[in-house]
Amino acid sequence: RRPAELARTVDVSGLVDTEGGLLDRAVFTDETVYRQEMRRVFAPSWLFLAHTDQFHRPGDFFTTWMGEDPVIVTMDRNRRIRAYLNSCRHRGARVCRADFGTTRNFTCTYHGWSFNLEGGLVSVPNREGYPDSFDTGQWGLVEVPHVETYRGLIFGTWNPAPVPLRESLGDMAWYMDAMLDHDEKGTVVVGGIHKWMLEGNWKLAAEQFATDWYHVNMSHASALMVLAPAGKKPKQEIVHRAGRQYVGANGHGAGFPVHPKNRFDDGTVHEWTDYDALRERLGDARVEGPLTNGHATVFPNFSYLPVNGSIRIWHPKGPDRMEVWAWTIVDASMPEEIREAQRLYNLRTFGPSGVFEQDDGENWSEVQGTAGGFMANRVALNYQMGLGGEREDGRHPGTTSELYSDAAGRSFYAHWRTLMNTPAWHEEHA
Ligand code: FES
Ligand code: FE
Repeated sequence: RRPAELARTVDVSGLVDTEGGLLDRAVFTDETVYRQEMRRVFAPSWLFLAHTDQFHRPGDFFTTWMGEDPVIVTMDRNRRIRAYLNSCRHRGARVCRADFGTTRNFTCTYHGWSFNLEGGLVSVPNREGYPDSFDTGQWGLVEVPHVETYRGLIFGTWNPAPVPLRESLGDMAWYMDAMLDHDEKGTVVVGGIHKWMLEGNWKLAAEQFATDWYHVNMSHASALMVLAPAGKKPKQEIVHRAGRQYVGANGHGAGFPVHPKNRFDDGTVHEWTDYDALRERLGDARVEGPLTNGHATVFPNFSYLPVNGSIRIWHPKGPDRMEVWAWTIVDASMPEEIREAQRLYNLRTFGPSGVFEQDDGENWSEVQGTAGGFMANRVALNYQMGLGGEREDGRHPGTTSELYSDAAGRSFYAHWRTLMNTPAWHEEHA
């Protein structure tokens, strides 16, 4: 069936000039662009759903969003992780309203249709009221056709024929492993999931995590002062740090200082960490690079901070709002007190009231606040830092640039533009 909105499609070539490093602010404000993103960026892409540690036995479930579509992620009776559109096939209410839990069936609280862990419609109150032609087999939950996992991170896509997840990550996986592959047992989730709303388009957060180390010294100056070791000036710690930025082909990006003496910012976790073992496992380039302190985005809206163990998703909630969901993950082998130290460190820095997180959210709201103006829309934004400086550096996989650069931002928007100007499968067959 062809949604009515398909009639309205815009060519975004004029909004994104990645070769010149220019961006039109309409990408943050325009309603038509936003609806097009839902069907051409979010529907075909791999989207982060949850961490495998949230599912231990059949019936464990977690509810989240893919773009603006509510979904249930659950472990079925064969212990397979599956995901379904969280919308009853009867009148469309959500069949699961809890954030997470364990269940045998998802029962809609409107009229009582009930669905099993495999998505099948198994119970219909007043069944005799329906005609003989009513076939419950036709009215199961809509399943997300592809769900794949990369080192504990579960992704799903509505794309019926996607490039496999690992392939779509490409070299990005090498950078992700700096957080995900410290030990054989992988990672686990500690504490709950923080959720908060921000005024700002989802791309403002996603692109910043892909590309922007440049803001750190200015935006986070006061936070850096607070966290500086006694007797040390924070700027000695941060400014002019040499580093690299990974410029992913599929819109992924990561930035990190390169420093021979790697350290986590939290002393407790730092002391516990066996860097020799990590060097053995991950190699010097990764331990001295992505593991030092960095930021990254897996296109389109999954980001993480390896040192904090913060993984987060920027859920789009209209052109000018996003909802942030953030988990803390740690190495599975971490003892309890170190896990707790990591959780608190992440909370202090990048929790919803964390000293860094608040600065970032403030900036995104600020940019969004100017983006809707008519005159503001007549002048482009500048993404020219490091223009032409992308190259292979021989130490880090893929294309990289200097740490202070907009290169991964340009590649983020280049990939976005490609998707936005390419009809998705549902349009081709509509
Ligand atoms: Fe779910 Fe009617 S909307 S049973
Ligand atoms: Fe920041």
